[in-house]
Amino acid sequence: MEHTLVLVKPDGVKKKLCGEILARYERKGLTISALKLMQVPCELAAEHYAEHKEKPFFQELIDFITSGPVLAMVLSGENAVAAVRQLNGATDPLKANPGSIRGDYGLAINENVVHASDAVDTAKREVALWFPEF
Ligand code: TYD
Ligand code: MG
Repeated sequence: MEHTLVLVKPDGVKKKLCGEILARYERKGLTISALKLMQVPCELAAEHYAEHKEKPFFQELIDFITSGPVLAMVLSGENAVAAVRQLNGATDPLKANPGSIRGDYGLAINENVVHASDAVDTAKREVALWFPEF
């Protein structure tokens, strides 16, 4: 049993895709173990994206993820980390397969609808960061 951290980013919330996206994860067989709609504090955003601190798009990333509420959740199940990455699709929506969340609902890499932990280790760190009580 794995746990993974997933965010519906501000563009997904604004486009009213939360229900659609949750339905996809649930249909896959994943369990919603924790869920909250929240405005992301700048400090949390910076900590979450710490691995990208030196990248040219870092500030844009922080501005975007703090630009409106996100729906944060912990999804659980067998192979949950890889399963969610597959459902989300490639980082760039133009490279993501149609049928994936980013492939169906995104137009550009800087607003790609969802986040998910990229590995089991990362998932442990991110779940602890976003849901310390979990
Ligand atoms: P990354 O961790 O590489 O992708 P993923 O979200 O699939 O794990 O990058 C984090 C986010 O940074 C990504 O979702 C969108 C943004 N980003 C850009 O805006 N420009 C870029 O060139 C890259 C690689 C990412
Ligand atoms: Mg990543």
